[in-house]
Amino acid sequence: HGVFTYDPGFMSTASCESQITFIDGNKGILLHRGYPIEELADNADYLETCYLLLYGDLPNAEQKAKFNHSIMHHTMVHQQIHTFFNGFRRDSHPMAIMVAVVGALAAFYHDSLDINDQNHREITAHRLISKMPTIAAMVYKYSIGQPFAYPRNDLDYASNFLHMMFSNPCEEYKVNPVMAAAMDKIFILHADHEQNASTSTVRLTGSTGANPFACISAGIAALWGPAHGGANEAVLSMLEEIGDESNIEAFIERAKDKNDPFRLMGFGHRVYKNYDPRAKVMKAHADEVLKELGQVNDPLLKIAMKLEKIALEDEYFVQKKLYPNVDFYSGILLRAMGIPTSMFTVIFALGRTAGWIAHWKEMIDGDYRIGRPRQLYTGATERQYPKK
Ligand code: CMC
Repeated sequence: HGVFTYDPGFMSTASCESQITFIDGNKGILLHRGYPIEELADNADYLETCYLLLYGDLPNAEQKAKFNHSIMHHTMVHQQIHTFFNGFRRDSHPMAIMVAVVGALAAFYHDSLDINDQNHREITAHRLISKMPTIAAMVYKYSIGQPFAYPRNDLDYASNFLHMMFSNPCEEYKVNPVMAAAMDKIFILHADHEQNASTSTVRLTGSTGANPFACISAGIAALWGPAHGGANEAVLSMLEEIGDESNIEAFIERAKDKNDPFRLMGFGHRVYKNYDPRAKVMKAHADEVLKELGQVNDPLLKIAMKLEKIALEDEYFVQKKLYPNVDFYSGILLRAMGIPTSMFTVIFALGRTAGWIAHWKEMIDGDYRIGRPRQLYTGATERQYPKK
């Protein structure tokens, strides 16, 4: 009692055992349930990846059909949630609304909140994966003052999301299959990443017995920060601020300056000391999709590519092993697809929902106790309240 390991930032503390995701940060390897991320990105779709993360194995045809049907038939949200939206300012940050609405789902779906009931756990997991795209698209529609688009259960997961984002009652909207495939890949590449800050937040929240809607809302809040999921939005703002290739060097110098808080957004990672394998897939994919969408001439893409090249050859970045991470290229891709910058982190949250729930489920299914770190107290010693 009283002797603790002091590990700020959890640089060397494993908080749990897990069978979901393996990372070798020095080699740049990422495996979900044993499958390399590159193979999943090439061959699987997002819902298959969700199934894999949740249940441990890839689904057979029958399991896949059943799972897809369940996910695509929980996509609507309670009509009262539409009313809930009206309380927000239209210029709210989408992540602020996401935190609130996802947390509020517990107020609408009382019938699945018993975490000790296997069926409740199952239905809540499915409901969350199903309803995240609906809520995310509602946030966007609300921000631009358009009516909400109801989900279409006959579409695949990514196409349905694009339909809810971009269709409106006045004209026909056909989902572009290239964009749908790109969105699906973005979801796969964000699906899980072991005990990152938001997933650890979900686990810590869940360890108190809190309901899963509350846990995922806590995860969304943790993801919002620019050191984590907020980085994809920050990368775009940075590229816009750089504005021209001739300014890149100056920004690199700022990133190296210890007295300047500026960091190269989309660079560096706590675990990867090598190229982030997700960034590699994202980059290859961005090239392809930009070509297909006819947007190879995006000046920000050119700045991003040049910036990456200069940083990868710079002594400071080489020595500190700072490589591009997943957020570096995702923004370019999302921008090419017409997704506004303020929605980037929401898309990250959407994809990561699978991982958050898989970790919550793994914890609740197994032995766990409340997460309760200790501290090294460095404050005042006992003193007396001054006599009046
Ligand atoms: N630009 C300039 N210097 C950097 C950067 C950067 N992007 N990242 C790290 N460093 C330096 C840092 O100043 C420190 O230098 P020193 O040892 O001289 O003090 C050294 O590299 C180690 O950095 P750290 O902050 O101690 O490392 P960390 O593991 O605590 O932080 C990180 C990891 C991702 C928060 C950090 O690299 C960072 O802030 N990157 C920019 C934000 C970003 O792209 N985040 C997305 C992460 S990946 C996806 C996700 O999780 O959402």
